[in-house]
Amino acid sequence: MDDKKYVNAQITDKLDESSLPVLDGTLGPAAVDIQTLYSRHGLLAYDPGFRSTASCKSSITFVDGDKGVLLYRGYPIEELAEHSDFVEVAYLLMHGELPTPAQRHEFDAAIGMHNLLHEQIMTFFRGFRRDAHPMAVMVGVVGALSAFYHDVMDIRNPEDRLRAAIRLIAKMPMIAAASFTYSAGRPQRYPNNKYDYSSNLLQMMFGAPNQEYAVDPVLARALDCILILHADHEQNASTSTVRLAASSGANPFACIAAGIASLWGPAHGGANEAVLKMLMEIGSVENIPKAIARAKDKNDSFRLMGFGHRIYKNFDPRSRVIQQQAKNVLTHLGKNDPLLDIAMRLEEIALKDEYFIERKLYPNVDFYSGILLRAMGFPMNMFTAVFAVARTAGWVSHWLELQHESHGIDRPRQLYVGSTLRHYPGERQPKLVRK
Ligand code: ACO
Repeated sequence: MDDKKYVNAQITDKLDESSLPVLDGTLGPAAVDIQTLYSRHGLLAYDPGFRSTASCKSSITFVDGDKGVLLYRGYPIEELAEHSDFVEVAYLLMHGELPTPAQRHEFDAAIGMHNLLHEQIMTFFRGFRRDAHPMAVMVGVVGALSAFYHDVMDIRNPEDRLRAAIRLIAKMPMIAAASFTYSAGRPQRYPNNKYDYSSNLLQMMFGAPNQEYAVDPVLARALDCILILHADHEQNASTSTVRLAASSGANPFACIAAGIASLWGPAHGGANEAVLKMLMEIGSVENIPKAIARAKDKNDSFRLMGFGHRIYKNFDPRSRVIQQQAKNVLTHLGKNDPLLDIAMRLEEIALKDEYFIERKLYPNVDFYSGILLRAMGFPMNMFTAVFAVARTAGWVSHWLELQHESHGIDRPRQLYVGSTLRHYPGERQPKLVRK
């Protein structure tokens, strides 16, 4: 027997002074309420990476990673991707119900009212280097929105909160598009309310101000589908970042900028860019076995990008929808992308390989989304920016939900493993010695 101590967690219906309550949700595993663990037992819970921690109660999105299920407000993602559109999904996430025709009309009108940027914001873009990554520009510009709308909003006022949420959803396409057109040295088109949300993003990205832009409905539908699939994913890193930042009562534009910063990382929203780079590096179907061998080699840092997920230990339901969309768009455009062939063969080989089977590593949403976005003409460094446009709907919904929580500022604790108390040496001279 080692000298470690253990806590034996047992679920029982007996209540004694060491009992901790078990909370049931409507779906998914129950949670032990450890809020009084420290005050009653002097213990902290240690869970780096939050693998077993429910950081909040939420009624927005449900994920069952073992079964490959994703629900927005109870609706399966596959049904929403097939029958809904992004604006309706944004409304659903924010309000909890699908809109009536009158509510939808009002919501569209509000987005149409707020989708322009203050002209002074356009000067921010010019301050960035032309070769800056669009995500770096978006972090800066979205954060800067807080300097424009801070004084006119009171986060205790529900109407002000809703207006801030709609402003963010409405302005994000132009911010994303301008991050790209600025780097390409192209003049920026404005949103036009004759277009739907996704068509507007397309025309602002790819259109020129001196010409009509004919929106391809197949591409607009595919983009809308991408936005729906990426709109929310419960307490992922960027959403948790938004919630943590917002728990202090911070300005919502600044909180969303924090979410964009978190999303940018290659283990999160940057993965679709990383997938495409990996597929290009693999180069041909013949090189796949070598890539698989590298991914399995523990001495090699190479991982199969777009494979594996912290929550999904089964097919990511979004990956099937996006694979189908990628095939549709390539067929519609008459394009034959060799990277799609490599991706499909890679998936086939990996799914039969013991290493991936044992570890339950399946393709995630990012595995095919890069191929789809590339086919639509999006440059690689814009992939995560499109993800950020979509996820804004989820971030603002979580921000709105959080305003009703009463636990105050989030303040995680730590297991301290640093030096114990020691004293500053009295004889030490900390002054800078000039030679
Ligand atoms: N390629 C090769 N091996 C992998 C991969 C991969 N893509 N993903 C996980 N593994 C292995 C790990 O090396 C580990 O092996 P071991 O048990 O022998 O040590 C095992 O599978 C478990 O891996 P973890 O890192 O513990 O799994 P975790 O759930 O923490 O990681 C993550 C999830 C970060 C997504 C990981 O699978 C990964 O890096 N994938 C590639 C990046 C990617 O596609 N990210 C997008 C996520 S989806 C999104 O953000 C929308």
